[in-house]
Amino acid sequence: MKKVGVVGFTGVMGAGIVQLCAQSGYEVVGYSRDPERTRKALAVIEKHLGRLVDKEKITAEDKAAALSRISATDEMNGLAACDLVIESAVEDMNLKKSVFTELDGVCRPDAILATNTSSLSIIDLAMATRRPNQVLGLHFFNPAPLMPLLEVVKTIATSDETLEAGKAFGESLGKTIIVARDAPGYIVNTLLIPYLLNAIRMLDRGQAGHEDIDTAIKAGLNYPMGPLQVADYIGLDSLLFIANIMYEESKEPQYAAPPLLKKMVTAGWLGRKSGKGFYEYR
Ligand SMILES: NC(=O)c1ccc[n+]([C@@H]2O[C@H](COP(=O)([O-])OP(=O)(O)OC[C@H]3O[C@@H](n4cnc5c(N)ncnc54)[C@H](O)[C@@H]3O)[C@@H](O)[C@H]2O)c1
Repeated sequence: MKKVGVVGFTGVMGAGIVQLCAQSGYEVVGYSRDPERTRKALAVIEKHLGRLVDKEKITAEDKAAALSRISATDEMNGLAACDLVIESAVEDMNLKKSVFTELDGVCRPDAILATNTSSLSIIDLAMATRRPNQVLGLHFFNPAPLMPLLEVVKTIATSDETLEAGKAFGESLGKTIIVARDAPGYIVNTLLIPYLLNAIRMLDRGQAGHEDIDTAIKAGLNYPMGPLQVADYIGLDSLLFIANIMYEESKEPQYAAPPLLKKMVTAGWLGRKSGKGFYEYR
């Protein structure tokens, strides 16, 4: 693989994936229809690479080379020459299905189509194309250039060749690879989401205060962040959205969103991004 396309490249995850691929030597084409968001995303990538230069993690030449490998397009057709396209658009099934159908129409027949979805069924996206055997999940973690893990997700239709290509691609990005089945939550969120929801339930029933819950996990288990800090970092709306999808799919009570989480989202307390969640942020 030489050329990678990223749909949704102006988003938090998309911009990180573009930066990571360019740093790893791939030609990257970011697709966005909004010129203002495109400009901002390119500026953010440049800023992040600049910080790496300041910290002496990369040289100024590395930064310039990575930037020279990035281009943007406002037409899906601009992704026609890509060997792999990673879709990282907003978490909406209908929107993603239409992106996959469009990609299938413009991409080379041998190109692999991947999604960064955190919770949606990947086989549903694969069936929006005529190449379900060449569709898989590549689930990155935020921030994509820094977090070591990549969950490579195989649907019941993903071919062994596609899975192997996905794993090799992830390794070329320097990631630690795990293979997961196409079930909501994969491996990390299947463990993480009930843990975060339980911390919120504990707070809701008054068993402990928010700082004590976080301190318990940090000082007792040596985790770098407590569960309520993690929830604020993810965004409480995103957490609610993922929990709802996991509950919908499995009907397991462990994924049922606690009332306090729903109320906070209704109140617009979304965590770090809104300035208030379980903590206040300036
Ligand atoms: N945020 C995380 O921690 C995280 C981690 C792993 C995976 N993900 C997944 O990554 C994906 C993107 O999440 P995000 O947090 O970067 O969201 P975001 O809102 O920051 O970015 C979404 C991107 O989608 C684009 N977009 C909107 N409508 C579109 C359309 N019709 N066609 C093409 N692009 C469109 C937006 O312009 C934007 O670039 C989601 O599937 C999410 O589940 C998120």
